[in-house]
Amino acid sequence: MNYSEAKSILEKHGQGHVLKFWDTLDAVQQAGLLSQVEALDFKTITAIQALLKDGGEPAVPLGAMKPAPVVSLQASQISEPRALGEAALKAGQVGVILVAGGQGTRLGYDGPKGTYRLAPITQASLFEIHARKILALERQFQAAIPFYIMTSEGNDADTRKFFAQNNCFGLNPDRVKFFVQGTLPAFHPDGRMVLESPGKLFAAPDGHGGILSALDRRGMLADMKGRGLTTLFYFQVDNPLVDIADPVFVGVHLQRRADMSLKVCAKCNPDEGLGVTVVRDGRTSVVEYTELTREQKNERLADGELLFKFGSVAIHIFSREFLIRELSAGLPLHPAHKKVPYCDDQGKTVKPDKPNATKFEKFIFDALPDAKEALILAFAREDEFAPVKNAEGQDSPATSREAMMEKFARWLVACGVKVPRDSEGRLAVKIEIDPVYAHDAASLAARLPKGFQASGDVLLKG
Ligand code: UTP
Repeated sequence: MNYSEAKSILEKHGQGHVLKFWDTLDAVQQAGLLSQVEALDFKTITAIQALLKDGGEPAVPLGAMKPAPVVSLQASQISEPRALGEAALKAGQVGVILVAGGQGTRLGYDGPKGTYRLAPITQASLFEIHARKILALERQFQAAIPFYIMTSEGNDADTRKFFAQNNCFGLNPDRVKFFVQGTLPAFHPDGRMVLESPGKLFAAPDGHGGILSALDRRGMLADMKGRGLTTLFYFQVDNPLVDIADPVFVGVHLQRRADMSLKVCAKCNPDEGLGVTVVRDGRTSVVEYTELTREQKNERLADGELLFKFGSVAIHIFSREFLIRELSAGLPLHPAHKKVPYCDDQGKTVKPDKPNATKFEKFIFDALPDAKEALILAFAREDEFAPVKNAEGQDSPATSREAMMEKFARWLVACGVKVPRDSEGRLAVKIEIDPVYAHDAASLAARLPKGFQASGDVLLKG
């Protein structure tokens, strides 16, 4: 794209200001700005301008809705789906997708969130914890389980380097595939894109929903096809308890011939920041907690349970065919009013101290209403969900680490090991079990030496 092509398309979309400082830029800066303009998706920009005109309201109106049906499996109902899921894993039909492109603002950690050292004793990173679970599955099922990791422009290089420095944590590098998600500009209230500096448009990752187009653009859908994958397990980087490619979940998804499946757990309070699963206009959807009214969040049934009790924790399974179908559907855009650095009339970058512009993100769960068959499976929160979102307090490294150790403690107790606790019932020792050593109480029982005692910190590795 050259200058006059850029000028023409920008002016056509009311964005002529982007070239305001053109004559002051050097050749490298001019080339950088042109390539940013070339990469813009003007269809999306037009849609955003329309949204801003409407006051930036959520793209999907709430309408009348009721809770979506949730499947809870009894112990006696597990063996059949487990066998199905295990067969798919053994046949090499299951791949794993991790979204790790977020900026981790709330944690305030310098580096990709996946490199955060979380394990209680070895301080293994979140990436290592996840990778070792996949390695354990590959060994258990004697199968290849490709691992697709979505990064963003800001953390892609650091993420690749971290995996390379750690030899992919034992995984075959040919099966660890990184792909960068797209970006979206931010917008002033009048619909103009924010110029961050004279030669640069402000751009932020386009949300975890950006995965659909990124999978396609970066050749990952073709890679999945080439490897014969039919089923993709999807999760977020911040949850060390996630049961990756849980064979039972995979099995129920396959049994139901679902396009998309979700795991949900009971919210711990009405204001917990989880989206709820609903049916509206006959279609299953996830509604973000920010889009629920106070009344909707607090509505209770006669038995005192919350009406919208189940929250989605972003653990999904997709059929590969559905991902392809959904590509052309286009996910809605969700606005968020944020502090965005901008360039003033003199070309100086200003960091505002209050929100001044709107960023937009796509959410992957917005694909759900398009699923012809959707499955929602309930799970026990303490076993599978303890995210690292904040630096302190709820959903912090401290609470997540504690939840990991409590889970390992339950496995040890199930194996007949006495776990020491203090007078207030808190664990008196640290516990860490490498996923390759054991992935549940039964596999732990099979490996634990006879007469094992937890007299001090317990570290069971590899
Ligand atoms: P969060 O919504 O928790 O965002 O992402 P975050 O960026 O990690 O943290 P904050 O909100 O800035 O504090 C949930 C998951 O989605 C991924 C994140 O990496 C995380 O695994 N994500 C989020 C992306 O991959 N891309 C995005 O654009 C946004």
